[in-house]
Amino acid sequence: MFRKIEFLLVVALAAAAAAAAAKEECVVFVHINKSGGQTIKSVLHAQSRQIALCSEREFRANRCRPPRHFRGKSVRGWTFVGDSTMALLGWLGGRCVVFSLFRDPVARLVSSLRYCRRSPSDHLCGTAVLDAKDATLEQWARHQRGFVFLRLVLANATRTKVEARGVYDDDGAAVVPTWIEHQRAMLYPRADMDPRLAELSRQLEQGRLMDAVGILEWPDETARLFDRWVPLRGINWTAALTKYKANAHTSTRPSLRVVPPSVRAYLDYDYPIFRAVQNRILAALKS
Ligand SMILES: *[C@@H]1O[C@H](CO)[C@@H](O)[C@H](O)[C@H]1NC(C)=O
Ligand SMILES: *[C@@H]1O[C@H](CO)[C@@H](O)[C@H](O)[C@H]1NC(C)=O
Ligand SMILES: *[C@@H]1O[C@H](CO)[C@@H](O)[C@H](O)[C@H]1NC(C)=O
Repeated sequence: MFRKIEFLLVVALAAAAAAAAAKEECVVFVHINKSGGQTIKSVLHAQSRQIALCSEREFRANRCRPPRHFRGKSVRGWTFVGDSTMALLGWLGGRCVVFSLFRDPVARLVSSLRYCRRSPSDHLCGTAVLDAKDATLEQWARHQRGFVFLRLVLANATRTKVEARGVYDDDGAAVVPTWIEHQRAMLYPRADMDPRLAELSRQLEQGRLMDAVGILEWPDETARLFDRWVPLRGINWTAALTKYKANAHTSTRPSLRVVPPSVRAYLDYDYPIFRAVQNRILAALKS
């Protein structure tokens, strides 16, 4: 016979399992650029789950298919991938397991500088303001300042825009703000931005913004949590991440040692977010 405390424990576990099952209808991967998302996308593709919204195939320049296509329709079994998917969490977040992969802010910065030197026309490079080919790491840090913060915090604003229906082009795709538009927010007074940064960090740390978060530099911990929250079929995340690891651009480590403090200082909006994600992972591993 259960003693009361054991009974309560069993009830609590059953409730947690039911909550997770209710969410397992669909998966949302929030792709933060230059943070190892390509590997995750490859893993999801290999699972031959359906992928929609801002995926490789659907993502054309800065356009995503409008969420209204999914309104009122079952999203069971769908996998949604894309950076602006974040803007759609209002529709999907309650129903899907939402997860993302983060990366050390300096490593992300170095990767984005390399990428934007190769692909200056990418709307997220903001080449009209600063061409990566001419930029030092410090100039690039000032230019990209708060990239992750802005992408996440302004997803709310993007959602409002998409909701306003004023932003569909001829083929019905939603136009997502470019990096230059996002950067304007950096001109707001610090006093306006700090509360948003604090709120965003709090939500991430408490698991309210996303169900599962990982860190590129912590593959073992990340795989363990993803196995728990976003289980794959026929393979675990440890094996999947090894198998599909994007082989290019992995050698940013040596340069990290020579990063001047001024570069880190420009990443002051992204470090609190990174630390919040680290805390979330450490807490989740204990539970
Ligand atoms: C960011 O990722 C999106 C896809 O999610 C891609 O279309 C875009 O080119 C990337 N931009 C940068 C600067 O990495
Ligand atoms: C986004 O908007 C929702 C509701 O409008 C709000 O509850 C939430 O705190 C906002 N998130 C952030 C990170 O600002
Ligand atoms: C993942 O799968 C591989 C290969 O099947 C296995 O060797 C490994 O022990 C598994 N790891 C975990 C953490 O389950």
